[in-house]
Amino acid sequence: MMRIITSLFILLVFASGHTEPRHAAGIASAHPVATAAGFEILEAGGNAFDAAVAVSATLAVVEPYSSGLGGGGFWLLQQADKDEAVMIDGRETAPLQAHEKMYQDEKGNVIPGLSMDGALAAGIPGEPAALAHIAKKYGRLPLSASLAPAIRAAREGFRVTPHYQRMARFRLQALRASKAASAVFLYRDEVPHEDYIIKQPDLARTLEAMAAHGAAGFYQGEVGKKLIAATGKAGGIWTAEDLQSYAIKERKPVTGSWYDYRITSAAPPSSGGIAIIEMLNMLENDGLRSLTGVARKHLLIEAMRRAYRDRAEYLGDPDFVDVPLERLTGKGYARSLRETIAPSRATPSRELKPAAPIPEGRHTTHFSILDDEGNRVAATLSINYPFGSGFMVEGAGILLNDEMDDFSAKPGTPNAYGLVGAQANAIAPGKRMLSSMSPTFVEGPDRLVILGTPGGSRIITMVLQGILAATDGQSASRIVTQPRFHHQYLPDVVQFETQAFTVGEVLGLQRMGHKLKQLRERYGNMQVVILDKARHSVSAASDPRGEGLAQVKKISRKADSP
Ligand code: GLY
Repeated sequence: MMRIITSLFILLVFASGHTEPRHAAGIASAHPVATAAGFEILEAGGNAFDAAVAVSATLAVVEPYSSGLGGGGFWLLQQADKDEAVMIDGRETAPLQAHEKMYQDEKGNVIPGLSMDGALAAGIPGEPAALAHIAKKYGRLPLSASLAPAIRAAREGFRVTPHYQRMARFRLQALRASKAASAVFLYRDEVPHEDYIIKQPDLARTLEAMAAHGAAGFYQGEVGKKLIAATGKAGGIWTAEDLQSYAIKERKPVTGSWYDYRITSAAPPSSGGIAIIEMLNMLENDGLRSLTGVARKHLLIEAMRRAYRDRAEYLGDPDFVDVPLERLTGKGYARSLRETIAPSRATPSRELKPAAPIPEGRHTTHFSILDDEGNRVAATLSINYPFGSGFMVEGAGILLNDEMDDFSAKPGTPNAYGLVGAQANAIAPGKRMLSSMSPTFVEGPDRLVILGTPGGSRIITMVLQGILAATDGQSASRIVTQPRFHHQYLPDVVQFETQAFTVGEVLGLQRMGHKLKQLRERYGNMQVVILDKARHSVSAASDPRGEGLAQVKKISRKADSP
């Protein structure tokens, strides 16, 4: 299947519809069924926010290894007539009975796997509350309408792909450990064959409960009871109070500038927005646009190193710790960091002020939407590891996240590098764990770019490289396709996709003292939608590394749509 579909539409004035369309609509998501669900809702009279509910809920069904109702995420929304975006923080929270040492044994050693597999690894899900909130406050259609495509997909089923098989193989043990998960996602306890159809009738019923009762259909009633009973039986610590007190937060996104573009990205508890702005600020006087080769890559690596060091020391849930946001995203602070970058020598990470690196999950999903009126959404959602904790709540069809692994399991104690830190991201009851998810808008006089990607701690440097390409005028397909590289302070190594560096660049960077690691596999799954403001044209692309679909369509709304 052709994995990248880009198209272009010049504005046509249509006569019908209650709001005059400005241009075509674009949706890029990690699964063709989810992209189709988004367009179905736009065509039924919904706006980008209704479509976001439909795409999120459908991804929860057809991409169960990436996100789900048992997980959480960040939805960056901007209404067409507003100058500012809002971030819906639907991040999971630590259960009220959680405590700082819950994943340690009596000797204080971290027990391997406990924060990754099974019911104890799961934070209280935020996605159901976020979807109900988005539909009610920003959507135009009832939640029941926007959930309909997901309910259908859960009942009719979706096809197993080679990517699904890879993910299921990776998490086979955890899935086998849960009878309900194995029954749904495996075939006789083995990875199902390609094209096998995965049906989820229990999940369809849970979605129907949400369609009828909103968030209460998940956190209360029969579904709520099943969640508490099943987690309790499996060694979890959830209580009814955990579910009833879960609340999304509307947060002000982090903003910054790059040349004449405004960058809007995720606020804490994501570390993404702050780190991205910090890196851009460090490099703003370097003429990066005209720099090429080793000189450019050296500067980018050194900026990554410094931003990730700060991330490890300062960032956590802003409702629990004071995050020095103004300072970290300030130009003066970035200048002081820039002065520490030598022009032709790598700074060993151990020469920077020490901080403990933060452990982090691998999976997640992203989608980008621009509707025909100019409303926009960038959303990154997660259940952390592929298939989350692997634990499914019997009878509810809910696969639980293992987002608790994004907390520091042992803060305040020297880690393997002899470093102390990460107290800002210590576990506490009701606290949100630090994330890297970075849904982002890039807006300048000529174009608006909506982008994001999964990929654990590498999300932030992927989005950085996406922003640089976007502000250099690159096409949507070039932005998602370009080869990537990454440095995260510790381990002190630059990971790179095969084509990210030429042989000459490898040698040049090594001469400067950079340690390089060429990856065998490519990483990330970026989804991009672009509006060309002068031509009122829209383009979109889905990362060729994934199985997603990007489409641009003129929306013909049904005559009786609201
Ligand atoms: N679990 C991945 C993230 O939140 O960044």
